[in-house]
Amino acid sequence: MSINRQLRLARNIREHEAVSLDLFEVTEEAIPTPADGQFLVRTEALGTSPAQRAYLMGSDSRFHPPLKIGEVMRGRGVGRIISSRHEDYREGEVVACSTGWQYYSLQDGDQTRSPVKTLQKIHHPQSPLYLHLGTLGASAFAAYFGLLDIGRPKAGETVVVSAAAGGVGSLVAQIARIKGCRVIGIAGGDEKCAWVRDVVGVDDVVDYKQDNLDQQLADLCPGGIDVYFDNVGGVILDTALKNIGLRGRAVICGLISTEYENTPPPGPRHYYNLIYKRARMEGFFVWDYFEQFAAAEAELTTWYKKGDLISNEKVYHGLEAAPEALQSLFSGIASGIKVIDLDR
Ligand SMILES: NC(=O)c1ccc[n+]([C@@H]2O[C@H](COP(=O)([O-])OP(=O)(O)OC[C@H]3O[C@@H](n4cnc5c(N)ncnc54)[C@H](OP(=O)(O)O)[C@@H]3O)[C@@H](O)[C@H]2O)c1
Repeated sequence: MSINRQLRLARNIREHEAVSLDLFEVTEEAIPTPADGQFLVRTEALGTSPAQRAYLMGSDSRFHPPLKIGEVMRGRGVGRIISSRHEDYREGEVVACSTGWQYYSLQDGDQTRSPVKTLQKIHHPQSPLYLHLGTLGASAFAAYFGLLDIGRPKAGETVVVSAAAGGVGSLVAQIARIKGCRVIGIAGGDEKCAWVRDVVGVDDVVDYKQDNLDQQLADLCPGGIDVYFDNVGGVILDTALKNIGLRGRAVICGLISTEYENTPPPGPRHYYNLIYKRARMEGFFVWDYFEQFAAAEAELTTWYKKGDLISNEKVYHGLEAAPEALQSLFSGIASGIKVIDLDR
């Protein structure tokens, strides 16, 4: 591609509106040239995150200023440096960073503008590169640190994970299994539950779209849940808290079921169980672990190469498919980690 194609925000999304190409203007401009202290990245793949919906809403998303109409859609990508005038970043190196939804981006390596570091050098690139947005990237780091540092599972304990057919959740399930835990995945619908059981490989699966989630969890966890890894919040979190075990740990990773409501519903009712069960509920933010990403990537890569960790990216192709990929997080129509391959 000799031109830089981009998706720029054309208007803000409405509550409950599906993410679609209709929200964007497709623009083309000359490929930029790095000035002193800059380098040019050619994006090979884009990742997806529920947090991107906040950019479409025009809200501040807590860590970034609101995305303005006309700006390139914000998002993480992975790519190769194709020219550099920065002494710490060389041509040919691979980086994962905030590329935006475009084929080429200028970077300056400044990690002080945002409260957390996000520009990551990939020291041992694997093929395809989109693995570094999924099984060996940010989704996996969220699963790895959230489960191991906050959840602290011990072999033989029961770990329950919501959105187990999703990116972070499917990796939590696999890491918990590697650590010798009994794993129960929660997912929506027969097809996803079958995928979680047969492909991700959990001990039991619960379909939250059936109306007996509480009974299903109670039956499967008679001694209570030792670690609950929450990706969704809302009713599922509340039901898991009702079934939390003595000294259980609830890891709060995300709340996709309620976060983007204009008026979120009231919080969990069953948090009293944190008292009776001397349990703990703690959130985390993956970027706080930035300095440990390389060590996590090394261990995840070892598991991946041994076949203990399967890669499960759902790959969309081409820049114009990015909105559809993002929407799949909210519609729940696809399993695995959703990435967009821009490789020409
Ligand atoms: N704390 C951190 O640092 C951090 C880092 C990365 C991600 N996250 C959070 O982790 C969570 C997972 O992110 P991801 O990128 O891996 O997304 P994902 O799990 O691949 O996709 C979201 C999944 O959430 C489920 N879902 C959507 N709406 C739902 C609803 N109303 N009720 C119940 N389930 C619903 C769907 O699963 P079903 O089809 O089974 O319904 C969907 O597949 C998100 O909440 C994200 O914000 C947090």
